[in-house]
Amino acid sequence: MELVTEDNITDLAAARWGTAHDPRTAQVLTALVRHLHSFAREVRLTEAEWMSAIQWLNRTGQISDDKREEFILASDVLGLSMLVVQMNNRLDPAATPATVLGPFHIDGSPELGFGADMSDGLPGAPLYVHGTVRDLDGKPVGGAVLDVWQADTDGAYESQLDVDEARLRAKYTTREDGTYCVRTIAPLGYAIPMDGPVGELISRTAISHFRPAHVHFLLAVPGYAPLITHLFREGAQYLDSDVVFGTKAELVVRFAERPPGATPDGGSSDVPWLDARYDFVLQPEG
Ligand code: BEZ
Ligand code: FE
Repeated sequence: MELVTEDNITDLAAARWGTAHDPRTAQVLTALVRHLHSFAREVRLTEAEWMSAIQWLNRTGQISDDKREEFILASDVLGLSMLVVQMNNRLDPAATPATVLGPFHIDGSPELGFGADMSDGLPGAPLYVHGTVRDLDGKPVGGAVLDVWQADTDGAYESQLDVDEARLRAKYTTREDGTYCVRTIAPLGYAIPMDGPVGELISRTAISHFRPAHVHFLLAVPGYAPLITHLFREGAQYLDSDVVFGTKAELVVRFAERPPGATPDGGSSDVPWLDARYDFVLQPEG
């Protein structure tokens, strides 16, 4: 019988978890054990530190519910979410890059028509985001659904508020020629939730806890790789210090100031509005 020592415990634990029935699970759990142990060795983890980490994980679970995703937030600020996005979306350079989903997406948004207003009268500068959805050959993708969501001008998402109706989120479908048009309000930069365990940790560092102004898009179109991304406002604060590492140069878009007059939905605006034009490029599935 092999008794446990500080030197052999890693091999013993890895071998034990390597018995997982599914080979991929065995691979992942074995590597997890090895990396966890080597982390503890590298920092010479004390028992008090181990306990405070366990308590932090407990609080992270306790504060999470169907609306608050503190573990996703933790993964985001540690750069893990974006690393996983990068590794799994090795896109053709011509395709629109992916970025983090974030914790605020809500399923089942209402379907709105071309140019319909998803801000429903909320205060903010009128913004039209419009363009086309195309494939890598430049062919328009008609019937593509764009699931869109964003924060209000206080930086709050619907799931952070006590509201009954869909707020600043909607689904738009491209027309046969691949065109789409979203009417909303200009997003502002905002702070990630700082009132939980993730905020506790961040406030012990010099990390900026802000995200640059952006609108989220999710395009799940049959035959194409799903695309989860954002469009960021050109010139916005925090573009180069995004707390979740989500900013990419290709996703930064000019919000051009336009005077009252014709708008991209074919209508017109009595007040000045912002014009953001962006063409999404999807890559084939698989
Ligand atoms: C977001 O953009 O909604 C978001 C992403 C990651 C963490 C917090 C917020
Ligand atoms: Fe966001």
